[in-house]
Amino acid sequence: MKLATFVALCLIGLASLTEGYKIYKATTVNCRSDPNTSSKVVRTYNTNDNISLTCQTSGENVKGNTLWDKTTNGCYISDYYLHTGSSGYVAKKCSGGSTGGGSTGKIPGPIKNDYPYPGQCDGVDPWNYFKCQCTSFVAWRINSRLGVKFHNHYKGPNWGNANTWDNAARSTGVPINSNPVPGCVAQTNSGSAGHVAWVAKVSGNQVTIEEYNWTRHKYSTRTVPKSTFNYIHIKV
Ligand SMILES: *[C@@H]1O[C@H](CO)[C@@H](O)[C@H](O)[C@H]1NC(C)=O
Ligand SMILES: *[C@@H]1O[C@H](CO)[C@@H](O)[C@H](O)[C@H]1NC(C)=O
Ligand SMILES: *[C@@H]1O[C@H](CO)[C@@H](O)[C@H](O)[C@H]1NC(C)=O
Repeated sequence: MKLATFVALCLIGLASLTEGYKIYKATTVNCRSDPNTSSKVVRTYNTNDNISLTCQTSGENVKGNTLWDKTTNGCYISDYYLHTGSSGYVAKKCSGGSTGGGSTGKIPGPIKNDYPYPGQCDGVDPWNYFKCQCTSFVAWRINSRLGVKFHNHYKGPNWGNANTWDNAARSTGVPINSNPVPGCVAQTNSGSAGHVAWVAKVSGNQVTIEEYNWTRHKYSTRTVPKSTFNYIHIKV
């Protein structure tokens, strides 16, 4: 019995060293030419295949997971179906991908105050948030830069104040973790109503955010330690 346990542990160690991963949650998975389900199926993998990765990138959201794994066969499978032991990156980010996701990704756009209601802070915005609040600015950025029709009742629950965005993300299967990428949402429960911001840049252990109402009703940018926030991945 002891020997069997020892052998099993060694095999686990070996598997993680050689970075071969298994399919789970399905018996067959499509491997595609690009990290989205509209692209061409290049080949399929089965449950017992030993799959090695060259890199990972963000792409279409598959059941709440936006990560895609590029295999050594040069095609992409949704990370939802690959048992890597992590919902985050376990291999390097693919470079030059048109879908972004890395710090070279295209989504964030210029760091500037493009909020449509600067200084017009009365009333409610089209996404059902009070204008000039942190939530209103981030709702605007999700709509304008990610092309996602986000609003106060996105996917059902009341997203409400910034300090309930983490709960809303969890209850709707939107990924939330401690790994920022440009174009995701920074969220914290600290302060009376919490705070949310737009992640513009990630560099080492620091994250550069754009935000509203850190100073009352005003736009600002800050560079802070990653650990300041949780990160909600609406699209990336
Ligand atoms: C899985 O693939 C990796 C990389 O090609 C290889 O080094 C390893 O030996 C394989 N593992 C198994 C259990 O086949
Ligand atoms: C799928 O990915 C490719 C390459 O990134 C892109 O050109 C294409 O527009 C994507 N299709 C959809 C529907 O997202
Ligand atoms: C907006 O900022 C002001 C002053 O910084 C603060 O008192 C207020 O609570 C903030 N609003 C929200 C909803 O956090």
